[in-house]
Amino acid sequence: MTLNTDPNRVIIFDTTLRDGEQSPGASMNLDEKLRIAELLADLGVDVIEAGFPIASNGDFEAVHEVSRLVKGPVICGLARSGRADIERAAEALAPAERRRIHTFIATSPLHMKYKLQMEPDDVHGAVIDSVGHARRFTDDVDWSPEDGSRSDPDFLCRCVEAAIRAGATCINLPDTVGYALPEEFGGLIRMLRERVPNSDKAIFSAHCHNDLGLAVANSLAAVEAGARQVECTINGLGERAGNAALEEIVMALRTRHDRMPYTTGIDTAVITRISKLVSTITGFTVQPNKAIVGANAFAHEAGIHQDGVLKHAGTYEIMTPESVGLARSTLVMGKHSGRHAFREKIKELGYDLGENALQDAFRRFKDLADKKKEIFDEDIAALVDDAVIRRNDRIRFLSLHVVCGSVGPQSATLELEVDGDRRGTEATGDGPVDATFNAIKELFAHSATLKLYQVHAVTEGTDAQAEVTVRLEEEGKTVNGQGADTDTLVASARAYVNALNKLLVKREKTAPEALIA
Ligand code: KIV
Ligand code: ZN
Repeated sequence: MTLNTDPNRVIIFDTTLRDGEQSPGASMNLDEKLRIAELLADLGVDVIEAGFPIASNGDFEAVHEVSRLVKGPVICGLARSGRADIERAAEALAPAERRRIHTFIATSPLHMKYKLQMEPDDVHGAVIDSVGHARRFTDDVDWSPEDGSRSDPDFLCRCVEAAIRAGATCINLPDTVGYALPEEFGGLIRMLRERVPNSDKAIFSAHCHNDLGLAVANSLAAVEAGARQVECTINGLGERAGNAALEEIVMALRTRHDRMPYTTGIDTAVITRISKLVSTITGFTVQPNKAIVGANAFAHEAGIHQDGVLKHAGTYEIMTPESVGLARSTLVMGKHSGRHAFREKIKELGYDLGENALQDAFRRFKDLADKKKEIFDEDIAALVDDAVIRRNDRIRFLSLHVVCGSVGPQSATLELEVDGDRRGTEATGDGPVDATFNAIKELFAHSATLKLYQVHAVTEGTDAQAEVTVRLEEEGKTVNGQGADTDTLVASARAYVNALNKLLVKREKTAPEALIA
């Protein structure tokens, strides 16, 4: 990316698909990564870090396919300082319209001594070599000193100067372990910009982790100190306590433009939708009181607040729900709505479905309309998401009948289709969910263990659809499955079957040595 022409424009670099995916349990398959990447493009992020190509074939393929299919943002791949990493990243990024290589090496005394077992001079040499090598493949090179915030300032300046001289166009300062305080982190950015002689030749960037809950504050302090790129993730997804949350940074800049006169290219109305998509795909629920995207972020419970908001929304709302794409739930359609109206609604909600997926979603919409009086946008989104995730399934859910209640045993009669073959069984269990999952195990034997079972209601009311997430683990590989239905047990069976389908296609993920935060 060429240097910013507008001095107040902040580049939004999204790393949900790379640093976000490094959260244990948050792994996503190719199809899911593509869906998120497409929506990130609609959101208006400037850069998508789509993965770490040398880490696994799955990561390579994800970066390659995002490069091939997603238009608009610069596509970036991560690489350690070795030439093989950089060449693998370049190969994965080859189809991109605009590509960036993000290469890094640790610069803190602790990391150099214990993790890399390298002398500072050798690290300095690796910086020059890695950036120079990356420049052979693209003129957009981002260089990061891992654990930068705990590095010796003199050595940091030396490495940053060398990286810029070798051709880095962006210098990204990571607070890898979320240790820095805002004033300190802003001070580091300021120090680098002032002391490094060629600092005007690169954009400075912040990459903050949230171990002390300060990732967003540190990122904003960096912007105030002159950083013009922030690396962040949707919902703050990321290892340990996560990364800086994109939605919080963007809305803080927008809402407090009076004190922070910086702009981004983000279409904030897409925020709620992408937050939900990332949460559904990863099974990482958003806490209700999470800023911007939590279910309660715009809810007013206290009578005095409700009264104030009714008189003037500004009394208790510093931003409007609409500004983050949270439309007040509107009744959208009923059982008499036809195919044409459904197709229009799907388009309005931002989906682009092929004919088969559309027919499938329409059929399920009709079934839903028979069971549920009022159908909201959220209902349609849930059933379309459900149809989309099942496109290539080998195992398909057909029917379920459950006997439950306080007088046992609880049992489940289940029918599945496995590779076109219809199978049925009846199983008992310790409760209806257990019975349902036991029936699935009888019909499709596997050794995966259940790591997470989570239910949430798509809308309000007792006839609301349940959206279920199931996380399975088999031989160290984790997958998340989703399912939605007005019947919680049917949604549970669909979610489990979806997770099993993902396990079947899951590719080997080999962890490279010394993988970073
Ligand atoms: O946290 C970190 O240090 C990283 C780098 C690779 C930028 O993720
Ligand atoms: Zn990180």
